[in-house]
Amino acid sequence: MEALALERKAEQNRELRERLMQLKKERNAIILAHYYQRDEIQEVADFRGDSFLLAQKAASTDADVIVFCGVHFMGESAKILAPHKTVLVPDERAGCPMADMVNPIGLRELKAKHPNAKVVTYINSSADVKAETDICCTSANAVKVVNSVDADEVIWCPDKNLGHYVSQHTDKKMIIWEGYCNTHDMLTIKDVEEMRAKYPNAQFVVHPECRPEVVEMADFVGSTTGILKYCRESSHDEFIVGTEDGTGYQLRLDSPDKKFHFASKFLVCPNMKVNNLKKVVKALETMKPEIYVPQDVADKARLSLERMLLVK
Ligand code: 13P
Ligand code: SF4
Repeated sequence: MEALALERKAEQNRELRERLMQLKKERNAIILAHYYQRDEIQEVADFRGDSFLLAQKAASTDADVIVFCGVHFMGESAKILAPHKTVLVPDERAGCPMADMVNPIGLRELKAKHPNAKVVTYINSSADVKAETDICCTSANAVKVVNSVDADEVIWCPDKNLGHYVSQHTDKKMIIWEGYCNTHDMLTIKDVEEMRAKYPNAQFVVHPECRPEVVEMADFVGSTTGILKYCRESSHDEFIVGTEDGTGYQLRLDSPDKKFHFASKFLVCPNMKVNNLKKVVKALETMKPEIYVPQDVADKARLSLERMLLVK
């Protein structure tokens, strides 16, 4: 962007931030933002987090209104966990293709084939699917949740890559759904090899939503929060990052003197980037789009989320 356009954008953002502060007070609202959101949203968030931390925060906040900046299933989970609060999202078109890869009919069919299995569902799923689930998990607690289940067999959905990773850390028999994240699944061995040749001193850190053969190459495997913690605490000062590029905001904030190279230019989730600061302000101005979940679905889905929050 040329200098004048940049200056204009900065001025617009200053005005939007001021308006947002005012609206937040008027509505008693909290802004929750996933680490994959645009920087301009992470900057104004009251709380930034990965899927697990955000679900925990939504369940415990005393704000009346939650503006959930992430993708649809995250806003839905917040509404399920805090049914009496108003949950707004900046743009209801921000969905998650992986969450759409599993539906309750298919899941019920699989359950009928494996009647002794417990269903563990990644939080990246719809409320309808959660309602068919014994316990949810996120990438931060997936192994712990699967190992906590009172059954030898687990139906795992929808992420096959995370499912493969978990299967290496459990004795349970896992029946794995064939879903995947379009963004993380894009990273290839060749991308990582090229980056390693370019930055030979860098550690490669990766999210388990990436393909198994890519995960195998890593110096560290972890959820978004796991990656942030590892990079912050590591004595290394250069990293090749195998997760969504929005994570760069928190990585650089935590360790301004360390170098972070994203492993591929394709590690950008277009769904997460549908939201912007202007839409966050508009949502609070108009109190729309609001998330609704039918009560019978929410009541069943809540059990699976609350069970997850209890796993230590
Ligand atoms: P986490 O927030 O659990 O790291 O999951 C990453 C993701 O893809 C969220 O959509
Ligand atoms: Fe879904 Fe992947 Fe985007 Fe997360 S990064 S919202 S899993 S498509």
